[in-house]
Amino acid sequence: MVVQQAEPQLRISSDTQFHRPAVDDGQHLWRIARDSKTLDLNASYTYLLWCRDFAETTIMATIDDHPVGFISAYFRPDDPETLLVWQVAVDAEYRGRRLAASMLDALANRVEGAKWLETTITADNEASMRLFQSFAERRDATLERDPLFEGEHFPDDHDTEYLFRIGPLS
Ligand SMILES: CC(C)(COP(=O)(O)OP(=O)(O)OC[C@H]1O[C@@H](n2cnc3c(N)ncnc32)[C@H](O)[C@@H]1OP(=O)(O)O)[C@@H](O)C(=O)NCCC(=O)NCCS
Repeated sequence: MVVQQAEPQLRISSDTQFHRPAVDDGQHLWRIARDSKTLDLNASYTYLLWCRDFAETTIMATIDDHPVGFISAYFRPDDPETLLVWQVAVDAEYRGRRLAASMLDALANRVEGAKWLETTITADNEASMRLFQSFAERRDATLERDPLFEGEHFPDDHDTEYLFRIGPLS
């Protein structure tokens, strides 16, 4: 699918800042993921380790120095031109202001060597699907969607995760 490029409309306040997380921020990523009520919450240890080892491919947003959102991502070891976005969350009271879209743009602009961007989304997550569809539109990139992890892959009750693959990114 080839889609039209459009300029994002930024509706985030001037005291919003984006930065690479430090280990001290791991607790905030864990808290934001927990409060999202949608993301799979991993052990707090995971977020600390993530902030130590994947800070270059992770972005967090603060408003008035208060952490309000993050995107965690990594370059796939077997496909180093592909940036896989693992988790995205914005605190409920700050949603709908283009914060996630702006973090995604900032992260994609910051990392070097990302030709493709992937993420997985469940079919009921309209907000997340729109976030990545509109990113593809802004980049004039194709977006392919296929099931990646289906019910039988999961040891627990988990909806199918669809792989969204976007690119090529220029
Ligand atoms: C998904 C999430 C990160 C979006 O954050 P956000 O800052 O509110 O998103 P933005 O304001 O940047 O909006 C980005 C796009 O998504 C659309 N969108 C946002 N919320 C939406 C909703 N509830 N339903 C449909 N579309 C929505 C916006 O209209 C915008 O589309 P556009 O670019 O075509 O105008 C946020 O809803 C969230 O944290 N959800 C819980 C965690 C989660 O589900 N994470 C994703 C798991 S895969």
